[in-house]
Amino acid sequence: MTNPERLTVVVGISGGIAAYKAVGVVRGLVLAGHDVHVVATDAALRFVGRPTLEAISRNIVHSDLYEGVAQVRHVAIGQSADLIVIAPATANTLAKLATGLADDLLGTTVLASTAPVIVAPAMHTEMWQNAATVANVATLRSRGIAFVGPESGQLTGSDSGPGRMAEPDAIVAAALALVPGAPAAEGAPGADPGPAVDGAPGADPDLPTRHDLAGVRLLVSAGGTREPLDPVRFLGNRSSGKQGVALAVAARDRGAEVTLLAAHLEVPAPEGVDVVQVETAKQLAQAAAEYAQDSDVIIMAAAVADYRPASIAQTKLKKDAIGDTMTLELVKNPDILASLAANRRADQVVIGFAAETAGDTAELLRVGREKLERKGCDFLVLNRVGWLRGFAVDDNAVVVVSRGGDIVMEASGSKAAVADRILDVLRPSGS
Ligand code: CTP
Repeated sequence: MTNPERLTVVVGISGGIAAYKAVGVVRGLVLAGHDVHVVATDAALRFVGRPTLEAISRNIVHSDLYEGVAQVRHVAIGQSADLIVIAPATANTLAKLATGLADDLLGTTVLASTAPVIVAPAMHTEMWQNAATVANVATLRSRGIAFVGPESGQLTGSDSGPGRMAEPDAIVAAALALVPGAPAAEGAPGADPGPAVDGAPGADPDLPTRHDLAGVRLLVSAGGTREPLDPVRFLGNRSSGKQGVALAVAARDRGAEVTLLAAHLEVPAPEGVDVVQVETAKQLAQAAAEYAQDSDVIIMAAAVADYRPASIAQTKLKKDAIGDTMTLELVKNPDILASLAANRRADQVVIGFAAETAGDTAELLRVGREKLERKGCDFLVLNRVGWLRGFAVDDNAVVVVSRGGDIVMEASGSKAAVADRILDVLRPSGS
């Protein structure tokens, strides 16, 4: 299931003076350990600056429906959300949500999401009490949208009455209460249980953990292979195995029977999965071919050495014998993923990974789609790597493409959260 410890939270900000208080909402959610992505309307950005929101959320702010079209961002943000918080929600935004309007990024994001949504209205009393708004609020409540506030108090200008946006800490607490198990930051906004929330879907703390992979046999490789040169040296790569292990853990937690082909993991192998240690690409190829036969899903997350030394010295290579330069002859290793895909049963799902040093997402997608075609797998998980990006860190950002090149998933956040989202492609209905 969704990792409640680190949710992907979309904070939608619409254009009211209370937008400045949305900064506190974003901050409270970040302090509680969540991955927060702001979707702001153009009007919101007239009240609060993009740099402020980016600095506080630690992510880029999305506002333009026509940005990131190649990644189908207008729906991808909503699809990846575990929780959507709209603060402030103006009368205009409530009206648009009630009618399902999708003429801006916030509208498309909400429509494309199945996550719980909570809104914090903010407007003048007359607007809040207007029959149109009352009807819109009733419609939204009937669809399970939760409300926090508004409170009664001093409004912008000299008037006062109901319409004031709830305080950020109350919004954070009410929002996190919608997701069972989501922690609030200690001593930070959100620690207070907050006001009662109407129509809160999924707020039942006794909801069972999703067990949608029960009965599925899943084979996943993780880590990086090492190709020996001599008894003390090898050719290797920088893969830590964290993402592959996170996949094994997430699949195990969702009920799958997991076999992990472990190639030099820098993290402990998880409990509750069968672990098979491998050293080289050839050993990984052998183990993969053997265990693939009994697997329903195969995920090749390991970084496999494409080449190995043509010969392995039996004793330590010595500089004296080699001289000032050294030429290594390498031979190609088998392409494990391609052969698993070529030999798979009709009912098997084969997923590959591609870590590319692409300059931008468009190039990543171009290279990834070519690779998917070449490898013949069902899905390819793409991410960008570089000297300082992608390896050994705890976060990841991926795009998953399917055969035919469609983007079926975009996810970012902790490797655990990303793993969970990757497994969702096995259950497109989200069952
Ligand atoms: N892979 C594999 N066997 C190999 C090389 C790679 O099974 N000999 C798998 C990896 O586990 C990964 C996918 O193929 O799932 C893509 O790996 P990558 O190194 O990006 O692909 P390569 O075919 O090696 O292409 P490149 O020339 O870009 O390195």
